[in-house]
Amino acid sequence: MTQAKPTPAISDLAAGLSLDDLDGAGESKGRDIFQRISNFDLADQARAAGLYPFFKPIEVNEGTEAVVDGKRVLMLGSNNYLGLTRHPEVMRAAQEALAKHGPSMTGSRLLNGTTPLHEELEERIAGFLGVESAIVFSTGYLANLGAISALVDRGCWAIIDKGVHASIYDGVAMAAGQSRRFRHDDMAHLEEVLRRIPDQAPRIVITDGVHSMTGGVAPLPELMEVCRRQETRLLVDDAHAIGTLGETGRGTASHFGLEPPDLTIGTFSKSLASVGGFMAGPRDVTEYVKHFGRPMIFTAALPPASAAAALAALKLIDEEPWRVPRVQAIGERMRRDLQALGFDLSDSQTPIIPIQVGSEVQAAAFWKDLLDHGIYTNASITPAVPRGQALLRTSYIATHTDEQLDHALEIFAEIGHRHGII
Ligand SMILES: Cc1ncc(COP(=O)(O)O)c(C=O)c1O
Repeated sequence: MTQAKPTPAISDLAAGLSLDDLDGAGESKGRDIFQRISNFDLADQARAAGLYPFFKPIEVNEGTEAVVDGKRVLMLGSNNYLGLTRHPEVMRAAQEALAKHGPSMTGSRLLNGTTPLHEELEERIAGFLGVESAIVFSTGYLANLGAISALVDRGCWAIIDKGVHASIYDGVAMAAGQSRRFRHDDMAHLEEVLRRIPDQAPRIVITDGVHSMTGGVAPLPELMEVCRRQETRLLVDDAHAIGTLGETGRGTASHFGLEPPDLTIGTFSKSLASVGGFMAGPRDVTEYVKHFGRPMIFTAALPPASAAAALAALKLIDEEPWRVPRVQAIGERMRRDLQALGFDLSDSQTPIIPIQVGSEVQAAAFWKDLLDHGIYTNASITPAVPRGQALLRTSYIATHTDEQLDHALEIFAEIGHRHGII
């Protein structure tokens, strides 16, 4: 890990940085649609100040370590929770599928994009979660768009937790039905919102199992109870819960010792070391969404190599059962030690551990200083989090060593003090 010169004071870096265009476009002036976005130069300002935290090329990605700007860094900013991206079995499965099927099926699942690997993967997911059926999409984002837009048709309602991932908001925006939000994890407010939905209207409640920014866990037992009382279906997006929650990594329901919710959305782009997404639940629902979910029909199929990698990763969760408890233990340790240093970690209960910062500029400066000291994290600013509530998202991998974590804590302590965060 390379040591570097300390970053200059935040006030120096922020001098002249105007945060007015954090929201992107300005007023429209006439017919030229490009005109209203032409003043957006915040990214360039941030680059010039050396504070731009996005689209950073990762030159080599080995799992717990990576190479960025020619320097080796400790990776605390991936979603590779189980450390499977470079597992020999995952690599071999992807390479074999690439050799057999080529890089793309050049078409949608519906027509010419389905291979036996896609079908095997769907069966494996259903078996893994203990549900009847699953369907595979090209990304988790598209799984939410497909499931929500197909189900929440005209006259139907989606009731979503205010803190859910953008793909759920976008699924709701795409759906012909209506939607309401309830306050994050607030069951009394959910009940109130549900009572105001037309009595006989079909409805579904949607939440993340693990919140992607805070690392908090949804109160699933209470959510299920409200939904049962209100005769309402429940969809849980377990993108970050598969592999991190439950004794065997089966997600939020298993964490609470519950049966799976009515529908589960998941992704392969986190614990499952690949790309792609799925919806899992009763067969009549997967059959419907498979034929009416536009992101299933009108986009190219998940590449076979990605399907093969996810399939191999799913097998490895069970064949190498040490990974799930290891990443959970790392999460526990880092929450305890970061909290002891004085960091505010929101309500994290998982290996996703956000460090609350507040100001966007301060978050970017903290991120930069950590990177200069060999620690790669993710600066999260609006629109991923509300404006003025910027945070540094750290996340952990089952294959991180104790020595790597000790080293990270030393750097966090030093730089956290320097930036006045602790
Ligand atoms: C909660 C949640 N749902 C869905 C997604 C989308 O997953 P994918 O990367 O497979 O598109 C993400 C990704 O960040 C997520 O955090």
